[in-house]
Amino acid sequence: MKKLSARRRHPLAALVVLLLALACTGGLYAVFAPADKAQADATAQSLTIEEGKKLYTVGCASCHGTGGQGTSDGPSLVGVGAAAVDFQVATGRMPAATSQAAQLPD
Ligand code: HEC
Repeated sequence: MKKLSARRRHPLAALVVLLLALACTGGLYAVFAPADKAQADATAQSLTIEEGKKLYTVGCASCHGTGGQGTSDGPSLVGVGAAAVDFQVATGRMPAATSQAAQLPD
């Protein structure tokens, strides 16, 4: 018994326990976290895409077409890029109330 308790108090024992705990924590994180995160990201992204599709269909497709190809009421959005959409929507120009104005009011 005396020998066992002497070994328990070895100065390196605490360090070994700490390193084992760190290795276990890190190992478990490496095994579980990336897969969960990638899955969560993919789910969030597909939900965002679905939501965007719905918003586009309701608010934009009547003028810009269901595929963004444009109609007689609005130009094609093919290739205009995210910055144009951000600008138009963030400034309130889109969704336009009417397509009849020569230049849509600011
Ligand atoms: C009532 C018809 C109408 C609706 C609804 C509409 N738009 Fe537009 N959109 C237009 C017209 C017309 C223009 C051209 C504006 C101009 O030249 O001033 C335009 C231009 C744009 C542009 C600029 C294109 C470029 O070449 O830079 C973007 C981006 C855009 N619309 C996005 C949207 C989005 C996103 C929605 C839905 C939230 C939307 N629009 C709804 C009629 C519409």
